[in-house]
Amino acid sequence: SHEIIIAPSILASDFSRLGDEIKAVDQAGADWIHLDVMDGHFVPNLTFGPPIIKALRNTTDKIFDAHLMVSNPDVLLADYAAAGANYVTVHAEACDHLDRTLSHIRELGCKAGVALNPHTPAAVIQHVMDRLDLVLVMTVNPGFGGQVFIPAMVEKIATINDMIDGRDIIIEVDGGITAETAGAVVRAGAQVLVAGSAIFKGDNQASYSGNIARIRDA
Ligand code: DX5
Ligand code: ZN
Repeated sequence: SHEIIIAPSILASDFSRLGDEIKAVDQAGADWIHLDVMDGHFVPNLTFGPPIIKALRNTTDKIFDAHLMVSNPDVLLADYAAAGANYVTVHAEACDHLDRTLSHIRELGCKAGVALNPHTPAAVIQHVMDRLDLVLVMTVNPGFGGQVFIPAMVEKIATINDMIDGRDIIIEVDGGITAETAGAVVRAGAQVLVAGSAIFKGDNQASYSGNIARIRDA
């Protein structure tokens, strides 16, 4: 189906109240929960890993979408699966053996995703199309929330949409997604919209519902 999936990134939430923030976006109409894992090496920032994801798993039944911005994802894949991640997405730039890593994610019972930094060409996933459930097109350089959408990524989304060629693979976008940028990425083929600052602004559940609805309507 081509129903739009809205995935709030809890990176923009109040980290002192993570469980409550997840419950609030769940009630506010989120489809998935996007979990930004950063290791201070692949990206110049640090967030959280499997223990915190595991602790948050009982706060919602929504899909947990783990975005691993880490240099060596292979060592902890089993821990992300055990923590309750439904989608596990690795960066192509971080994987020397992408085919093996994606197969491993599926063997662990998770959906397998590949993320591409803005400068990474779509062609790097050409040979793993049959191992993939999701392609995450970064529409900012990863590491921080609240950055400005890179318009050149719209064409890249369209290229990947052509490469998918009827396969059961969904395109996710992440970075600078707002009611203003959502229309263009969806028209190009994106189905999962990650948004951090655009959803968590307002700091309460009523604001989150309005923010999610505005992106969905756009
Ligand atoms: C960036 C993260 C994003 C980020 C998006 O490295 O992968 O998920 O939280 O934040 P916004 O929507 O504020 O650009
Ligand atoms: Zn992300």
